[in-house]
Amino acid sequence: MSHDPLLQPYQLKHLTLRNRIIVTAHEPAYPEDGMPKERYRAYTVERAKGGVAMTMTAGSAAVSKDSPPVFNNLLAYKDEIVPWIREMTDAVHEEGAAIMIQLTHLGRRTRWDKGEWLPVVAPSHHREASHRAFPKKIEDWDIERILKDFADAAERMKAGGMDGVELEAYGHLIDQFASPLTNELDGPYGGSLDNRMRFCFDVLKAIRMRVGGDFILGVRYTADECLPGGTGKEEGFEISKRLKESGLIDYLNVIRGHIDTDAGLTDVIPIQGMANSPHLDFAGEIRAATNFPTFHAAKIPDVATARHAIASGKVDMVGMTRAHMTDPHIVRKIIEKREDDIRPCVGANYCLDRIYQGGAAYCIHNAATGRELTMPHTIAKADRRKKVVIVGAGPAGLEAARVAGERGHDVVVFEAANDPGGQIRLTAQSERRREMISIIDWRMSQCEKLGVTFHFNTWAEADTIESEKPDVVIIATGGLPHTEILSEGNELVVSAWDIISGDVKPGNNVLIFDDAGDHAGLQAAEFLANAGAKVEIMTPDRAFAPEVMAMNLVPYMRSLQKLDVTFTVTYRLESVEKSGNQLIAYVGSDYGGVSKQRTLDQVVVNHGTIPLDELYFELKPISNNLGEISHDQLIAGEPQSVVRNPDGKFQLFRIGDAVAARNTHAAIYDALRLLKDV
Ligand SMILES: Cc1cc2nc3c(=O)[nH]c(=O)nc-3n(C[C@H](O)[C@H](O)[C@H](O)COP(=O)(O)O)c2cc1C
Ligand code: SF4
Repeated sequence: MSHDPLLQPYQLKHLTLRNRIIVTAHEPAYPEDGMPKERYRAYTVERAKGGVAMTMTAGSAAVSKDSPPVFNNLLAYKDEIVPWIREMTDAVHEEGAAIMIQLTHLGRRTRWDKGEWLPVVAPSHHREASHRAFPKKIEDWDIERILKDFADAAERMKAGGMDGVELEAYGHLIDQFASPLTNELDGPYGGSLDNRMRFCFDVLKAIRMRVGGDFILGVRYTADECLPGGTGKEEGFEISKRLKESGLIDYLNVIRGHIDTDAGLTDVIPIQGMANSPHLDFAGEIRAATNFPTFHAAKIPDVATARHAIASGKVDMVGMTRAHMTDPHIVRKIIEKREDDIRPCVGANYCLDRIYQGGAAYCIHNAATGRELTMPHTIAKADRRKKVVIVGAGPAGLEAARVAGERGHDVVVFEAANDPGGQIRLTAQSERRREMISIIDWRMSQCEKLGVTFHFNTWAEADTIESEKPDVVIIATGGLPHTEILSEGNELVVSAWDIISGDVKPGNNVLIFDDAGDHAGLQAAEFLANAGAKVEIMTPDRAFAPEVMAMNLVPYMRSLQKLDVTFTVTYRLESVEKSGNQLIAYVGSDYGGVSKQRTLDQVVVNHGTIPLDELYFELKPISNNLGEISHDQLIAGEPQSVVRNPDGKFQLFRIGDAVAARNTHAAIYDALRLLKDV
């Protein structure tokens, strides 16, 4: 029997949890028609297979029609959800894990132009900055209706075989009642703490009456909003005690902070560069004050911190939620004493930002997450050992090397630079984004275990490749900054990479023209402004840095606003001219009719990359597929069988930015989905 604190079972009322690690509520936005169908089930079951004690499926499953999902949540108000839930709970239970679901009414944290176009309701007219709807002030009949909706939804979940339900009470309707900032009601539901908590307790009572005692009920709530005038720590402790003393619930799931703005949400779910486990001590204080089962999650990404959270008695169950999106098999690897093999969560929050912007959560460096029906988390061995030669050791090349190694192939990688990493190595130059380098370090250590051979500082030529006598050649050479986009003066500008890498000295008065809208532009701005430059970021788009997305933007704004960087949208840099030791930038607009000038000493252009594809085109004529990738076979998950040149010597494929400028996830997905079938 293991003495690892993380692997000790935990008795939650009648439910025995097999260890101390849980996945907390998170809606990955995989529902189809609001139902947890095959894809959802496969995603959830993978984590149960990986050994987690309990998965809190969904996040914010909607109990009422006037709580329409803002991205893509489960619709717990529909009866047809019950059989879908049943299939999922049966499958999870078969793997030995417990499964619960988080239910909610979003209150003002949604929009009226979604779902059935019903007005949104809240205990005041104050709108939430993030979702923007002006709410209707809730009436008595709304309250009655929603209480019944909560009980109905909980009953459906019990009928579907769930072990319990959790209520979301931070930033949603229950908490909007509790917080003095969002509750302007008079009478029984407004005013004193008793009154503001009445809705929460009415919901709990309604659910308990319906589901009985042998069903786990918990609340995930903010015990300190960290907002002037909001629920403070003292009141939060009082709320915690009252929740326990009500006898209605079985555990507390502690949140600290508020989520009504992107910045607030990012403090609750911290992104890379922010401290690890920032609210763990606070959760520990609540556990000590209440002596009640306490759950908590907030950037506890590694096993050592999770172990500390349990061993120190701060919490009873520790959430490792994003960590399980990156690696669903954490517990299995702990049990097998393979902690080093756990793919690390790098806190990129690509997963979270994508639920809004892309409509589904994907992990920046595990392309199998959310694609369990087509992409493997564990790579199967190939029938025949092949020689696979890879050029480039950026994210695409290293993922290709890792996957080919797992397939059992003989793998050789050539890299022109001293070190692996490509663009990620540059990204990780920013202190705040240093965690990104784990994407590379983890792959290098996996490749080492798999016996992959690396040649650094080696510029691979066609001869070099041919002399290896490969069966398969993968070109993952990435790209170089593309700055030649002006009608005149291209030679006068530098790239964002030039600045980030330190190859070019920062100027004093700098214009960054950023129409790629990705991290590189903002990272360059941060470097420049930190070096003392006056910086303006200009974009022809309606908003700057659209590819960076909401939570990722927060740390940049916190830094750039302090450094007085200015942001100009809807203008386009057209040309640059030299004037003495200064530069004149000529600026127009896609909307027409304007022409402006700026006098500067440095102009930085961020416009993606141009593929570094010479070697690919040199090898193409001697390959047997002439570089072609069958999209049909790629999508169907079949081996590539295109032959366009029967005399060719090897199969040749190009992946990542060597094809076209995209992002890290795309590069890694290119590699996984191709190489898993090589
Ligand atoms: C894609 C995604 C969706 C989430 N949705 C919810 C949600 O609906 N309800 C909730 O309480 N928490 C939600 N969360 C927050 C997680 O439960 C967890 O608190 C957060 O990810 C911090 O824990 P971690 O650092 O272990 O990931 C979500 C997280 C992610 C990554
Ligand atoms: S995208 Fe980033 S934060 Fe999200 S699971 Fe993957 S590594 Fe973790």
